[in-house]
Amino acid sequence: MDKTYYITTPIYYPSAKPHMGHAYSSIIADFFARFKMIDDYHVNFLTGTDEHGLKIQRSAEKAGMEPQIFCDQISQTFRDLSDTLNLSNTDFIRTTEARHKKTVQHLWNELEKNDDIYLSNYAGWYSVSDEAFYNDDEIEEVDGKKIAISSKSPVEWIEEESYFFRLSKWEKPLLDYYEANPDFIYPESRKNEVISFVKGGLKDLSVSRKSFSWGIPVPNNKNHVIYVWLDALTNYLSALNYPNTDDDLFKKFWPASIHLIGKDILRFHAVYWPAFLLAAKIDLPNRVYGHGWILSGDEKMSKSKGNILDPLEIIKEYGLDPLRYYLIKEVSFGNDGNISQERLEDCINSDLANNYGNLCQRVTTFAIKNCNGKIPFEVKFNDEDLLILNKYKNNLDNIRKQIDNQNINFYIDYIVNSLFEANKYFNDQEPWKKKANIIRLNTIVYTTLEIVRKISFLLYPIIPKSSLKALKIFDIKEKDIKLDTVSNNDYLTKGNNINKIDILFKKIEKNND
Ligand code: MSP
Repeated sequence: MDKTYYITTPIYYPSAKPHMGHAYSSIIADFFARFKMIDDYHVNFLTGTDEHGLKIQRSAEKAGMEPQIFCDQISQTFRDLSDTLNLSNTDFIRTTEARHKKTVQHLWNELEKNDDIYLSNYAGWYSVSDEAFYNDDEIEEVDGKKIAISSKSPVEWIEEESYFFRLSKWEKPLLDYYEANPDFIYPESRKNEVISFVKGGLKDLSVSRKSFSWGIPVPNNKNHVIYVWLDALTNYLSALNYPNTDDDLFKKFWPASIHLIGKDILRFHAVYWPAFLLAAKIDLPNRVYGHGWILSGDEKMSKSKGNILDPLEIIKEYGLDPLRYYLIKEVSFGNDGNISQERLEDCINSDLANNYGNLCQRVTTFAIKNCNGKIPFEVKFNDEDLLILNKYKNNLDNIRKQIDNQNINFYIDYIVNSLFEANKYFNDQEPWKKKANIIRLNTIVYTTLEIVRKISFLLYPIIPKSSLKALKIFDIKEKDIKLDTVSNNDYLTKGNNINKIDILFKKIEKNND
């Protein structure tokens, strides 16, 4: 059986251009997708834009544009960002596409058929910015304005005819499901939040709006549009051509391996979405992971706060791979993190330029001079060589396990330690003093080159372009990167040419004023 992996990012609101928070979700998802790719999985990696609802309709009105044209423009900036971030996504879905509308209306019909939807009236608070309904106890008043306590977004009172989803009916089945599937919600702290929210009692959920039109019409009642979250969540299925359950994509990739999302949208993914799926008798995704926020100062970024960090500016200044590396290393995954220019420059100078870049340059320059520019032929490993080489093999299954638990920090720490050890090995072995013992010199070079190869394979999911640049030393191409071979201590073909490569990372001159 082929191993398959289906990972999704949230689909982003094209209400304004992308910011660092969006880039973060996408880069992390790309990291997992690429890791699984080199581990021989068939990977489906979905991202896209969430284009309906009042938030988008109002943003379009403000821009003086038709919502569709407005979405076309901003959705394109998200698509462009996917390219700029070098994402390996296999699809990019837009909720205004016909393939998606079909799936959403089908799902609606299924819910209605199973008596999970009824018509009534809604009266309550709504935040357009969150596209969320709030109870009285979730609202506070600040400076005479009502806002949602959790997000601080303004809320407005709405009263209108609305279809409801019988969410209350799914309270017990959801709690049973969380209990029987302790790995469904990650990390643990978020799981506890969700469980206590559900235990607090679920009210039926309003799933249609009548007072505006920018959405997917409710089948058989064109006066209503489907609630944007029911619409949006369904993207994970429509991209697999559901309801065509005979479709290869659906058969191969559903249930999703992981929905990667920000912590602010956990309730939608860990309560509403599984309830919709249970009601429609569709399998639930294996995991929902709620990551933290990238803060600007101490606050979440938002247009209204004017504290947006632009990923494009950082990429222009420092390059893409340093940004990817920074976000993966410096944010403790699951928690909130900050972008600090100083820490970013430290990552570039010490980890990327010194520890990785220098190692690659030193060993290749040495080998070009002292081994005829070829991977040495005569090699005889001693215990010290084998100790450092075998560590990779001995840790590989644990690395896989840690990645399956989204333990990104373990992974990056492992690489940082390996780089430190590799540099120490090369220094301590002093190959430049072994010119009289050519077999020993060859063996040190071979061992170090093998380590450079192994580490470059492991770095590929984090900094794919730089890893490929380094692998030019051996003429190794992207398709040849296989995680399994990290266990192999004589992967490099003896006698092959060693190529000189360009500097991988330029050091940043630090201005200490
Ligand atoms: N459209 C919904 C998601 C629908 S998924 C079926 C949405 N869009 S969003 O554009 O507002 O946010 C998308 C994702 O970006 C969310 O996971 C959110 O948590 C994440 N981020 C937005 N700002 C963020 C930070 N400052 N930091 C990290 N991620 C944050 O919600």
